[in-house]
Amino acid sequence: MQLTLLVGSVHGNARQIAQTLAFAAPEHGASAQVLDMQDLSIAVFDTPGLFVLCCSTTGSGDVPDNAHGLYQSLDADARFLGHVRFGLVALGDSSYGDTFYGGAKAFQSRLQDLGAQLVGEACVLDALDAAEPDAVALAWFATWIAQARRLGLSLPSPV
Ligand SMILES: Cc1cc2nc3c(=O)[nH]c(=O)nc-3n(C[C@H](O)[C@H](O)[C@H](O)COP(=O)(O)O)c2cc1C
Repeated sequence: MQLTLLVGSVHGNARQIAQTLAFAAPEHGASAQVLDMQDLSIAVFDTPGLFVLCCSTTGSGDVPDNAHGLYQSLDADARFLGHVRFGLVALGDSSYGDTFYGGAKAFQSRLQDLGAQLVGEACVLDALDAAEPDAVALAWFATWIAQARRLGLSLPSPV
């Protein structure tokens, strides 16, 4: 079983985080692929395994351009996603106030509307935060994988 990391990004920050997590996945007994949301549709959720959405926010609480197709497909091709378990890495900037990490929130809300279940707490990466985002995301990832394993979600055991 593996993780699929779905990237919604404008300038590459979310992509870098996803690649960092994918690189770390084997240390946690998981394998991971990183997919850019560009050109994806709801069909990506037919992929076996767990999902992690790494998504930034643009405009005024909007999903990145490369995520529009997937986001719209969740409406246009809506179907029950009760088999889907996902984690969320939400990039934003708290100086935007009410629209802080709005892009990731929009995905979370839409996926949950379709029956998908969020595993654990979201990892929120605030551009104003002095902490190093890769380090914050890696710490979150370790906790998230452990929680998924405790919940009996299918991940390989560490070798
Ligand atoms: C034009 C523009 C608009 C943005 N709008 C928001 C916003 O509404 N809410 C938010 O939380 N962050 C907003 N951000 C901050 C980005 O989400 C943040 O810098 C993030 O790290 C970018 O990641 P990316 O390179 O993967 O797109 C905005 C950034 C830019 C450049």
